[in-house]
Amino acid sequence: MKTIVAYRSKSGYTKKYAQMIAQELGCDIKEDPVLSDIIGYDTVIYGGGMYAGGLNGVKLITGNLDKLSGSKIALFAVGSNPGREHEMKPFWDRVLKGTQGIGHFYLRGGFDFDKLTSGDKVLMKMLKVRLQSKKQRTEDEQGMLDAYDTPVDFTDKENIKPLIAFVRSA
Ligand SMILES: Cc1cc2nc3c(=O)[nH]c(=O)nc-3n(C[C@H](O)[C@H](O)[C@H](O)COP(=O)(O)O)c2cc1C
Repeated sequence: MKTIVAYRSKSGYTKKYAQMIAQELGCDIKEDPVLSDIIGYDTVIYGGGMYAGGLNGVKLITGNLDKLSGSKIALFAVGSNPGREHEMKPFWDRVLKGTQGIGHFYLRGGFDFDKLTSGDKVLMKMLKVRLQSKKQRTEDEQGMLDAYDTPVDFTDKENIKPLIAFVRSA
């Protein structure tokens, strides 16, 4: 069975998970893939960071499902949020748009302000001001605010287990 892990990673968290998955499965791995990189595989695993409620680069998969119809597909999203149902369910609904049979997994990454692009720094500074101005913050909002000063990394090999089980299932 030919399997590939393809991914896009801006600050390295998705890359860490992609490497863990490729090592566990002993399969190919490709950063910043184009369509020709992923065609012809029995299983295509695609991962990207969550950015403003979207999945970085996922159009490569969702925009080419006709060309990938012979492949088993698993997506993984890497964000800084804790992965609660109320955040992840609408996210996956937006990404998958009712498409059946695609495995989808949330793997918690982290946040490192210093590693952001200058454009993303501007966006995140605006979010910081908004969070700071709130009189009452949720635990998650406070955690996000704290992470501006101290980078956080929640990557954990345990988290890839459900994805690995899905890929290995018939
Ligand atoms: C502009 C911007 C928007 C983000 N939006 C979200 C989001 O909607 N949900 C989330 O959980 N994390 C969000 N994050 C955090 C990233 O998803 C997180 O840092 C992730 O680990 C990045 O993975 P990567 O470094 O592999 O791209 C955002 C980060 C930036 C810079």
